[in-house]
Parts: sequence; structure tokens; C-alpha cells
Amino acid sequence: MIPFRVIPQHDGPDGCPTATSFIQEKTEKELKEAYDSVPKPLILQRMRHFQWLKVLLFQGLPARYKSQDASQPWLMFWIINSFQLMGVQLDVATKQRAIDTLMQCQSPDGGFGGGPKQAPGLLPTYAAVSTLACVGHPGPGGGWDQIDRQKMYAWFMSLKQPDGSFLVSRNAEIDVRAIYSLLVTATLLDMMTPELVAGTASFIASTQTYEGGFASTSAPYYISVDTLMDEPRPALGEAHGGYAGCAIASWVLLKPFMTEEESKKLNVDKFLRWLVWMQGEQADYGGFRGRSNKLVDNCYSWWCGESLAIVESILDLQEETGHEDEFIEDEGDDEWVDTDWWLYNNKALQEYILGLGQDNAGGLRDKPSKRADVYHTFYSLAGFSTAQHRVYQSKSLQGSLRNKWKPSEAFTPSTAKGEDDRRQATRKELWINARSWKEDESSHRYVGSPNNRVNAIHPVFTLLISQASNIMDHFYGQTSPP
Ligand code: FPP
Ligand code: ZN
Repeated sequence: MIPFRVIPQHDGPDGCPTATSFIQEKTEKELKEAYDSVPKPLILQRMRHFQWLKVLLFQGLPARYKSQDASQPWLMFWIINSFQLMGVQLDVATKQRAIDTLMQCQSPDGGFGGGPKQAPGLLPTYAAVSTLACVGHPGPGGGWDQIDRQKMYAWFMSLKQPDGSFLVSRNAEIDVRAIYSLLVTATLLDMMTPELVAGTASFIASTQTYEGGFASTSAPYYISVDTLMDEPRPALGEAHGGYAGCAIASWVLLKPFMTEEESKKLNVDKFLRWLVWMQGEQADYGGFRGRSNKLVDNCYSWWCGESLAIVESILDLQEETGHEDEFIEDEGDDEWVDTDWWLYNNKALQEYILGLGQDNAGGLRDKPSKRADVYHTFYSLAGFSTAQHRVYQSKSLQGSLRNKWKPSEAFTPSTAKGEDDRRQATRKELWINARSWKEDESSHRYVGSPNNRVNAIHPVFTLLISQASNIMDHFYGQTSPP
């Protein structure tokens, strides 16, 4: 028998006696108690996190991770990238071990599986290629040149649906995580073609909900065929931070292929309005939630934080406010000055992460009542990075990249014929679009002390900026980047 959920029979904290109100009230108490007991000034417990991650990397994951056997590239991505955010360099032997393990996950049919001999999926493929961007290198044994791009491209095309969306793997579901995973992989490895992404921007726009955020998918295209083919398709499901991050980053990657008409399909202002509402107020200590009326959770520091960084660039706010050249004193939060040009309260978010998101035993967590895990460790540190550093798409860098571009041999799918000039022109735009993100060195802000600094992260690729640049420069044949 399904047990009934017992809802207390009084009015509830906000006059609505719902389970949601009661759990929100309970969480607010939990946050207050935990925050009051944390020593101030707030400190990033770097050594504790480092030791905790080191045990996982060198001694193996505890048994509770066994359900993630099909997520091995993800576990590597989260652990290795957490080290990199905290400025820890991995030794050559460890990097080689990671490369060799990942290459065992490459499928003979193209793409990467969640473990050796597992069926390929877009999600583990993204995680494997992104991890290779961190630890791999060109040449024999380095992983990069052992990626079979021809097979991967053919497999990508086999997952493509008539409406521009993609299955996450053969016979599986369609969602924006699949699109994000494919676009990041194809962009990093110089595999983007107009055929691959035809219709994809419109599909993403169709997942924007009435709230302004993005759901996982939209109504199946076969419902629209014949009846609603030319009508906008309704989003299917609820706006959620995780899907929102995937959708908006995908939108940016598609920019060089987008028609004027497509670019108008997404409502960025409405998305921004939804995003800022996802940040909790005082009682939530500035943490982000992933959907309306749900609880704050540290991983949304990234999914909502990256989205806000991307929206800032789409709306060109960085260059408009002219902060690119302004120097700001930033020695800890005593001197925290004018932050009014940030789209959200980045100081409060850093306080949530430092004050409530760190597990005393090492690693970062959703909230104080939860234990640390590698997913929350990485995405909390990544969100912390976006709250410290402004990384934006720079017009001046675009200009210098344009001048430095040297046409080089392009990846050509075995199915494609001719059209070399057009392909080279699009390739150049793709490289510039993805490569022109940089940190505004003058506006980093650190709660607690500058010792709490973590490295800047690329809001679109979820990699250090240099890692995304290095692998792209290799595949796009740009040997002497600026
Ligand atoms: C809800 O969990 C979580 C989801 C519905 C999935 C969210 C999607 C992502 C995190 C994006 C993943 C991205 C890639 C590239 C694979 P919940 O109900 O436990 O949490 P909630 O109460 O906070 O919504
Ligand atoms: Zn979470």
C-alpha cells in the first residue's frame, strides 16, 4: 500500500498548510543553526577538500558509488575538475592513468560509454571529452588524437531527430542535456556542421516554459506533425536550473549557425527574470534553488550561476557598463564595494557556499543535512568560481582572434562533399565564438579573504578557460594562439 504523506493540520508558516511550506520552514531553521555555528571569517577548507578528493582518486570510491558504475567518466570529470578549480596540478602518471581509463570507454561504434565496454551515450561522451581536455594532450597516448571523430560524428547523426533534438543514447530519451553534451563535444573537437545542428536552436527555444526557465524537453514532434507543425511547440515539464544551464549554454554555442528568425525565438529577459527568482532570500542565505517552491541546493550555484554569467554576455551588459577597465579594491569582504552591476547577489552566494555548503569531513554538499559527494563538490566549487570571477565574451578578444585565424585542415565528415570555403568561414566563427571568453581581471570579488580564491571557469564549457582554449586550438589547427 502507498503510505499517505501526513501534512500537519495547522496553517503552515506562510498560511499554506502544504508539505512544501513545512519543509521550507524546516530548512530555514537548519540553515540558521548551521550558519550561526560556523566560525567567521568564512574560509574555503581547501586542504580538507583536497585530502577528501585525493582519497577518492587514489584509493577508490566507497561502495555507495556503485550505482554510478555507468558514470565513470563523470566521476573522473568531477574529481579532476575540482582539483583544477582549487589550483591543484595532477602529476603526469595520474593524468596518464585517467587518459588510459577514459580511452577504454571509447566505443568501437563511436562515442564513449559510462565504463569499458558499455554502450555509448552523449552524457558520458561529454564527460570523457571534457576530462580529456583537462588531462589529455596531442600525440600518441595523449587521448586527443585517439578520439575517433568520424565514427563519433556518424553516431551523433544516428541520434538526431527530425526536430533538431537528440536522443541521449540509442533508443533513449530526448532532452537538453543531450544537446548540451553533443554541442560541447562537437565544438571542442571541430565537428560542428550545419547538418548536425539544423533545427536544434528552435528545439531549445521550444523548451522555454511559461515561467521563463527551461524544461528538459518539449512536446514530441510527432504530436505537432500535420496539426501544429508551424505552431510553437509547448515545453514539456517544469523549468529547472539544470536544464536551464544546458539550454542557455547550447544557445550560445549555436550562435554562428543561427538565423535572425531563430535568434528571436528565445526570450532572454524572461529567462533572466526567472533566474534571479531562483536565488533564495535572507532565510535561504542566498543559495539557489533549481525550481520554483523547492529548496536551495548548492549544485544550483553552478547551474543558475553559469546561466546568469551567460545571460550577462548575451545581453552585452559587461561592455555596456564599462567595467572592463575599472579597477576595484577587493581584499576580502570588509572592502566589498558597489556590486550593483552583478545580476545577482554574488556575495550572499559565496556566503552560502562557504558557510553552509562545506562538509567538515571534506567535500562540498547540497545543504548542511546532506553529506558531501563528488557531484556537489564540483558544481559547488564551479558556482563559487562564477560568483568570484566575471567571465564574459569579449568583443576585443573576438577582434584579435579574427586577425590571428589561420585556415587549417578541417574535420570533414565522410558523408560531406565540397563547400570548403563555406565550411572554413563557419569554422572560424565557431572558434571565435567559443574562444573569446575571458575573465575581467579587475572585478573578481572574494568573500572572507583572497585566500578563498578558486580559478576562473568558462561558463559555457564548464572547464578552466585555458583548458577549453588548448583543446580547441589543437583541433582547429591554431598553433600559436594569442
Ligand atoms: C531534479 O532533482 C533534477 C533534475 C530533474 C535533473 C537536473 C539536470 C541537471 C542537473 C543537468 C545535468 C547536465 C548534464 C550536462 C548531464 P531533484 O528533484 O532531486 O532536485 P530539486 O528538488 O532541486 O529539483
Ligand atoms: Zn544538488
